[in-house]
Amino acid sequence: MSGLLFRSIVEKLRLPIIQAPMAGGPCSVEFVGSVLKEGLIGSFGFAYSKPETICDELSKVRSIRKGPVNANFFIFHPLEAPAAADLQEAVLALQRLACLEQSAENEHHGQTLFEETEQTNFEDAAKAFFEESAKKLLAPPFFPSLEAQLDALWSSPPDLLSFHFGLPPSWVLKKAQQIQTPVLVTASSVDEALAIDQSGASAIIAQGIEAGGHRGYFDTARLNDPLHGLPTLDLVEAIAKHVKLPVIAAGGIMQGGAIREALRRGACAVQMGTAFLACHESGASKEHKQLLTQEPHRGTVFTKAFSGRYARGLSNRFTEAMKNKPVLPFPQQNSLTGALRHRSTQIGNPEYQSLWAGTGYPYCRAESVKDLVDRLEAGYHAA
Ligand SMILES: Cc1cc2nc3c(=O)[nH]c(=O)nc-3n(C[C@H](O)[C@H](O)[C@H](O)COP(=O)(O)O)c2cc1C
Repeated sequence: MSGLLFRSIVEKLRLPIIQAPMAGGPCSVEFVGSVLKEGLIGSFGFAYSKPETICDELSKVRSIRKGPVNANFFIFHPLEAPAAADLQEAVLALQRLACLEQSAENEHHGQTLFEETEQTNFEDAAKAFFEESAKKLLAPPFFPSLEAQLDALWSSPPDLLSFHFGLPPSWVLKKAQQIQTPVLVTASSVDEALAIDQSGASAIIAQGIEAGGHRGYFDTARLNDPLHGLPTLDLVEAIAKHVKLPVIAAGGIMQGGAIREALRRGACAVQMGTAFLACHESGASKEHKQLLTQEPHRGTVFTKAFSGRYARGLSNRFTEAMKNKPVLPFPQQNSLTGALRHRSTQIGNPEYQSLWAGTGYPYCRAESVKDLVDRLEAGYHAA
């Protein structure tokens, strides 16, 4: 039933595109509003957002634009405070970045990641910096409460809800069904798609290996094997053979012709993240946009060094230096690196920012959302 509702939303779109939810900055109200203006589904990545922000951003976008809005959340898995030894190891691995950075000290207009004072040298400054971040990990909560986040939106719900990293609890599915809001869930394998099919959700987002951002595995044991996964269109085809629910293709779709091909392979829509990241309206950092459009040979890597879970992003000094280094589980590592990522953005240094991007990023252009969608439309109709 809710699968039909989802299909009816897609039928009214200008093109069968969901702008991917992207937590952590890109999905500003202005950005989502400009996607809605072009007749697509606009998504907010609310994974880390406070209830009041969720309420505020949904009402702001509604006040400027009509159109289907998707609110996306993570399914965080419960975890305990890290053991003291594990925390110390993870902090030490980050502190060692100080040596690396000291050699590149004057790169960003003389601004460094860790600030020396008369009393502290560079390494001590780095130690103090990460020890401060580590304090947040001594006791829960380690992630936001999904119940509190969703409470913020039931009175004026979005048109769609979507979830990453697992199935939403059954009370969420029941509530969404009562208010006729389709629920979309990410699958990175056929097994996960079957579980989504059984759960009563409305549609499956088939996330292929090319996708930017976090891989949506349910099962954290499989996180050690990020390359265990099918390319997007193969995954779509495999899932569509086994389930009746609508399938959405996510990963590496950058051009109109690829949208057409995804539909041919069994998808009813596509979810595109990277293609929108470099748009003028996106809230991605200036440096992130610059590298997406100007460094086609930099390449992408899977790393869990930023958050504790594998995600695909542009390679940088951080992803290289942190290869095989100890990290805390998700999202504790994310909290531990938060101040570093923030500082790196503040001083305009892309080397310590999480620059999530899919393998298709060399197709990114610095353009408006309107120009991107016009280009996708032309390619879609020509294919
Ligand atoms: C910067 C960025 C942030 C992302 N954040 C989220 C998120 O918060 N929630 C989610 O479900 N997916 C997230 N994703 C994954 C997308 O939903 C989608 O799977 C991916 O963008 C598709 O691949 P593409 O980037 O090649 O288009 C993110 C992707 C990117 C690039």
